[in-house]
Amino acid sequence: MLGIIGGSGWSKIAWLDDVEKRAVQTPYGKPSAPLELARYNDSSTVGNAQETVCFLGRHGETHTIAPHKVNYQANVHAMWEAGVDAIIAINAVGACSAAFSPGTLVLPDQIIDYTYGREHTFFDTLENFSSHVDFTEPFDLNLRQRLLACAGRVDVPLHDGGTYGCTQGPRFESAAEIRKIARDGCDLVGMTLMPEAALCRERRIPVASICMVVNPAAGVADGVISMADIDQAMAVASAAVADILKHYLAGSI
Ligand code: HPA
Repeated sequence: MLGIIGGSGWSKIAWLDDVEKRAVQTPYGKPSAPLELARYNDSSTVGNAQETVCFLGRHGETHTIAPHKVNYQANVHAMWEAGVDAIIAINAVGACSAAFSPGTLVLPDQIIDYTYGREHTFFDTLENFSSHVDFTEPFDLNLRQRLLACAGRVDVPLHDGGTYGCTQGPRFESAAEIRKIARDGCDLVGMTLMPEAALCRERRIPVASICMVVNPAAGVADGVISMADIDQAMAVASAAVADILKHYLAGSI
């Protein structure tokens, strides 16, 4: 079963069908919201697979949980226990250069973690060397290729590759922080994909992230970061992400 973890702008997916809410507890506490087990009944697709999907809004049902307060362990554990075998994460990001304009979708292939103080692992004791999981390639190649194919089919531009820098938030960065993060090699900056991606790896769940560029990061464009501009870019990008996901869920790729 596919899992979808929605970020800002994605606390709920209105176009899913047969939604069954399942409130769960985990050894790590409560996930951000009840899991939503649902289907996408796309009647226009021949051979409609109607697979169940498991949706979870990372910031809670009403978008109240700040990035540093998300219980990433509970979220990933809950999805794993529900039987999710792949996760598509949706993440709003700033762009570290003018190369990605607001509204652009990017499928990152690398990540750098700048967060601190977050519960970032399921392995607090070293039982054996399997606690040291490989994270050379943080994102799953097959899942990424499938998403690229879906994007191509629905004619939505989805940029292949990029490095995501995960900052602590909830404030945006200073211009100097963004210059440093860009020098480190990051193309995108967001607040939520770590430790989520690493926890997925520890649970052996393949993950890919569709990043929605919603603003030029601090200092990349003139002026301050505007929430009104972000909302506008988010609406455009979210519609494009929905097109990709619907095609994915229709099961024709
Ligand atoms: N920085 C960090 N996280 C973000 C940004 C940003 O500029 N935009 C959206 N999420």
